[in-house]
Amino acid sequence: MNVIYAKNYQELSEKAALLIGGQVIRKPDSVLGFATGSTPIGTYQELVRLHRESGLDFSRTVTFNLDEYFDCPISDTNSYHYFMHDHLFNHINIKKESVHLPDGMAKDAQAECERYEKMIAEAGGVDLQLLGIGHNGHIGFNEPDDHFVLNTQHITLTDSTINANSRFYKNREDVPKTALSMGIGTIMKAKQILMVISGTDKKVIAEKALFGPVTPQVPASILQFHQNVTVILAID
Ligand code: F6R
Repeated sequence: MNVIYAKNYQELSEKAALLIGGQVIRKPDSVLGFATGSTPIGTYQELVRLHRESGLDFSRTVTFNLDEYFDCPISDTNSYHYFMHDHLFNHINIKKESVHLPDGMAKDAQAECERYEKMIAEAGGVDLQLLGIGHNGHIGFNEPDDHFVLNTQHITLTDSTINANSRFYKNREDVPKTALSMGIGTIMKAKQILMVISGTDKKVIAEKALFGPVTPQVPASILQFHQNVTVILAID
């Protein structure tokens, strides 16, 4: 595991964007895995800047997001579809048809999970997966459990995650209670992983995930078994 200590959030965002940009330059038709949440927002801003100021070209890039709320239309400003377009896709030259998120309005959640998993495999797998980490150690929406979830699944969110997500909603009751998320197995198949962790409130979970025992109670700890992980930390 390659751990980089950034001096602040801005530096974390610049370094993460440069690593993603490097991947796109090396392999213009890269398959990128993206995450939502507050932490990668700065990274997306920097990617937009690299596109505008340095011509970073996403025209051949394909993307798969980690997750999407279930029963949440893409027009909902809290949908991850909306988030990704707002922060990144609307501001770079990626083709519309190259952008993929699980369909949160699918009638059959299980069939949608299988379709998503198959699409990732057919695209040749993810070259570089960007991840954040939840306070409980979740990656994507893989919550602490007694086992690691293998494939893309319809997941029931924990109270801790619903509480964290409620900051974006007027009422806690409006926060979606389930989501479709890549599984731990899907994430572990990515050829490279880039995790961004920011804020003193993430210090305890970062130590557990990066240096503690590997356990499904801390889903991110599985990354210790991945061969190509870079973590950028800005936690003090
Ligand atoms: C969302 C996702 C989540 C977030 C995590 C941290 O796509 O993958 O696992 O990365 O909840 O979110 P922030 O960055 O808001 O603390």
